Amino acid sequence: MKRLVGKRVAIIGAGSCGEGVGNGKAMAILFAEQGGKILCIDADQKAADETVKEIVKSGGEAAILHVDITDVQAGKLVMKKANDLWGGIDVLVYNVGKSNQGGVLETELNDWKEVFDINLTGAFMLVKKVLPFMRSQKQGSIIFISSLAAVYSSPYSYASYEISKSALIKLSQTIARENAQFQIRCNSILPGLIDTPHAKQFINKIKTSDEFSKERALMVPMQRQGSPWDIAKSALYFASDESAYVTGNILKVDGGLSL
Ligand SMILES: NC(=O)c1ccc[n+]([C@@H]2O[C@H](COP(=O)([O-])OP(=O)(O)OC[C@H]3O[C@@H](n4cnc5c(N)ncnc54)[C@H](O)[C@@H]3O)[C@@H](O)[C@H]2O)c1
Repeated sequence: MKRLVGKRVAIIGAGSCGEGVGNGKAMAILFAEQGGKILCIDADQKAADETVKEIVKSGGEAAILHVDITDVQAGKLVMKKANDLWGGIDVLVYNVGKSNQGGVLETELNDWKEVFDINLTGAFMLVKKVLPFMRSQKQGSIIFISSLAAVYSSPYSYASYEISKSALIKLSQTIARENAQFQIRCNSILPGLIDTPHAKQFINKIKTSDEFSKERALMVPMQRQGSPWDIAKSALYFASDESAYVTGNILKVDGGLSL
């Protein structure tokens, strides 16, 4: 049986920043296969368009909203588009993330602000527009894609990323507590080392070789990087009614990396 039949889903960052499938695109495709109607929101129109085309080709239902989520009007636009299309949102996924390298001493204020705008403030501004609607319908599921880096020191140094993703988890728990009485749930997923186009671009800045991908895989107890489909399948649980009594949770999807 399909697990998201009739659910109105909005995914921020539903495209992929390079060839192949990232976490957001995998969620959009899997959720559509499971009967969800997917609003693909992305700052890159072409990337969102590719996701929508793939969904529609397979018989699913999807639409595009081209917007940068750090824009102050973005939350309002997301809610308006979802209302115009399908009368609202049942599942909201905040998937965007930005990483600038450097420890506290090396991180310039501008880089810090840029990372926090995307990883944290965008989510805060967005939920301020979506929560009143979810409260009025007395249900909703919000999923934040954080990172294992929020709770586990990685070999790479990127302080602004780790700290903003950590604050994103706290934001999800605050939302969960403040909105539980309205049957609105908010949970966080912490991907470990996932083989996405985004990760490849990041790796290529450090070292340009397949060797580095292999090294990355060998850091994981399971001896492999995760796939974006591992993230999508975990998110599907939070999106579906199977997790109706689960809120404020942190799900590590990391092949044992944090053990
Ligand atoms: N790959 C990993 O190893 C790994 C590990 C931990 C966490 N994550 C997290 O997973 C998420 C990324 O997953 P992905 O592979 O789908 O990423 P991605 O980089 O491919 O981005 C997905 C889409 O988000 C869009 N986007 C970026 N900034 C945006 C903005 N300001 N407004 C609207 N759209 C924007 C991009 O255009 C892209 O199409 C991030 O939150 C990242 O921090 C990834």
